Amino acid sequence: MSLTGVTARRKDTQPTAEADRPARLLAWYDRHRRHLPWRAAPGAPRDAYRVWLSEIMLQQTTVRAVAPYFSTFVARWPDVGALAAASLDDVLKAWAGLGYYSRARNLHACAGTVMREHGGTFPADVAALRRLPGVGPYTAAAIAAIAFDRAVMPVDGNIERVVARLFAVEDMLPQAKSRIHELAESLVPQTRAGDMAQALMDLGAMLCTPRNPSCAMCPFNDGCAAYLRGDAATFPRKAPKKSGAPRFGAAFVVRRADGKVLVRTRPAKGLLGGMTEVPTTAWSAGFDLARAKDEAPRLAGAALRWRCLAGTVDHVFTHFPLALTVYVATAPRGTRAPRGMRWVAADAVHGEALPTLMRKVLAHAGIGPAP
Ligand code: ADE
Repeated sequence: MSLTGVTARRKDTQPTAEADRPARLLAWYDRHRRHLPWRAAPGAPRDAYRVWLSEIMLQQTTVRAVAPYFSTFVARWPDVGALAAASLDDVLKAWAGLGYYSRARNLHACAGTVMREHGGTFPADVAALRRLPGVGPYTAAAIAAIAFDRAVMPVDGNIERVVARLFAVEDMLPQAKSRIHELAESLVPQTRAGDMAQALMDLGAMLCTPRNPSCAMCPFNDGCAAYLRGDAATFPRKAPKKSGAPRFGAAFVVRRADGKVLVRTRPAKGLLGGMTEVPTTAWSAGFDLARAKDEAPRLAGAALRWRCLAGTVDHVFTHFPLALTVYVATAPRGTRAPRGMRWVAADAVHGEALPTLMRKVLAHAGIGPAP
């Protein structure tokens, strides 16, 4: 090996000087960046419309799910004026499947605001962006950095994780957020702020992953405090989830003589919003099984002969564990569904938006496959 080679290697293994970090990461980004449909080619002008549209779509949705929607939208509405001129109904239809429809309503409202109040050009500064419908602090910073190279850092989950590791932030999330934001801001370079943000996003998505990060391939590894301590995967620190008190309730599975099952749709907002369920009592810590059947006529209509199945259906939600006792009954042919409920053929019920809990309840009652 030549002397030069040795020197170069030694230089590589020196801890990354703080000032060196942005340059190293940008060099890595130039070689390894993901090719995403909303990203401008290196050196090409950025289009704020595409940046904004992608960031709204990417809120709560993965890159993979967003890509085809993004392409459809820009083919149909190539600029903000075209989108503002579209009917809300058409935009909602094109959005169908991405979920969180308030985002689509805000998208359309925002396009109108940009046309009316900004002459069809997105503003470049964070404060003005924040005033647009559907644009919160993260999205405003992402647009300002990526579309306009403003010296700000949008901190999403990926960037939060990278920064928590790089600086071995011991404080727990969510309290650690403001410290992580400060540290993330310290990584903003003089130029290429947008590329730096996207580089950190890519690093988080490709190498600095939540589990089993690929530290050996990371351009930051020799300056990463968590890696140097040997416990990168344990960051960011998170307060242990408080598990709530167990709740209990009863579920009522009614089959009509023609084989149909009685179901209802949960309210759009809240736990399992808009999903299908068999009628149940409220789920509570103080549920009294002895009184469960009193609720049955109101919940499932008609005076039926109820049979209580042995055991419970157990399910753990993020905030609490739940145990449901299942009652079954058969209703005569022609029984009408109580208000707000409907009959669904037993072999079609699994095609409904059934949460896992309800799949378990139906399986317990002998309807359909065990989940
Ligand atoms: N997630 C949110 N914004 C993103 C972007 N611009 N590129 C990749 N992933 C993202």
